[in-house]
Amino acid sequence: MSRPEPILAVDGLAVGYGVVPIVRDVALAVGRGEAVALLGANGAGKSTLLKAISGLLKPSAGRIRLAGKDIQGLAAETLVGRGLSHVAEGRRIFRKESVADNIQLGMYRLGLGRAEMARRRDEAFTLFPALREKAPAAAGTLSGGQQQMLAIAQALVRRPSVLMLDEPSLGLAPILVDEVFRVLGDIRAQGVSVLLVEQVVEQTLGFVDFAYVLANGRIAAAGTPAELGRTDVVRQAYLGRAPADLEGAA
Ligand SMILES: Nc1ncnc2c1ncn2[C@@H]1O[C@H](COP(=O)(O)OP(=O)(O)OP(=O)(O)O)[C@@H](O)[C@H]1O
Ligand SMILES: [Mg+2]
Repeated sequence: MSRPEPILAVDGLAVGYGVVPIVRDVALAVGRGEAVALLGANGAGKSTLLKAISGLLKPSAGRIRLAGKDIQGLAAETLVGRGLSHVAEGRRIFRKESVADNIQLGMYRLGLGRAEMARRRDEAFTLFPALREKAPAAAGTLSGGQQQMLAIAQALVRRPSVLMLDEPSLGLAPILVDEVFRVLGDIRAQGVSVLLVEQVVEQTLGFVDFAYVLANGRIAAAGTPAELGRTDVVRQAYLGRAPADLEGAA
């Protein structure tokens, strides 16, 4: 199956925390308008890879291109301005600030006027009506699901062309996981390209156009959900994990 032209392309990437790379020789692409999954067991290197792409970690080798331009080694803040947003693992919100201020902080340093910031905040509230109701409340008083929505809203108000999300469903009840995927569907419908790290394999494969499986820091398999479904690679990559997550995935 042919894929759209890549908006994000990673080649030969190596990155780690010390001298020994955790992620090695990784190549992956996200096509314009695609939703792409990065799957893999705990410790496979998924978060490390996202951090390297978003400029939080410096790769020791390889190339990363965003809309055709090399971005490896650029600072995270620069990349936000270029249209790359990363919703990190574990809901990095400002718990003591209000919901409205948290959304405002997402637009910090973008140099937008007040009217434009208000328009974008209103758009976020349209996508997440529960956040509008809670606008004056401290973000720390929100439920886990609402905090996750707030973290996503903070990224969306930057109008990213590529949105990377690191396990947005982590710790959420199944009904809220459904809600996360509903929102991701809306985001994709707006033309945003999505790179999604997830552990809810079945739901993720039901959502994305293409998926990569990371095992021990390397890409172990790649394909459409249908292609991956015909093999056992996804299941193998998760060996040792709860089989309940895998039903229908392999
Ligand atoms: N700050 C750090 N310093 C040193 N090693 C780290 C650091 N963060 C992660 N690691 C190691 O890097 C490897 C990959 O971790 P990473 O967090 O990228 O995995 P992951 O695929 O995101 O896992 P999970 O599904 O648990 O989120 C692991 O062995 C981990 O212990
Ligand atoms: Mg992780």
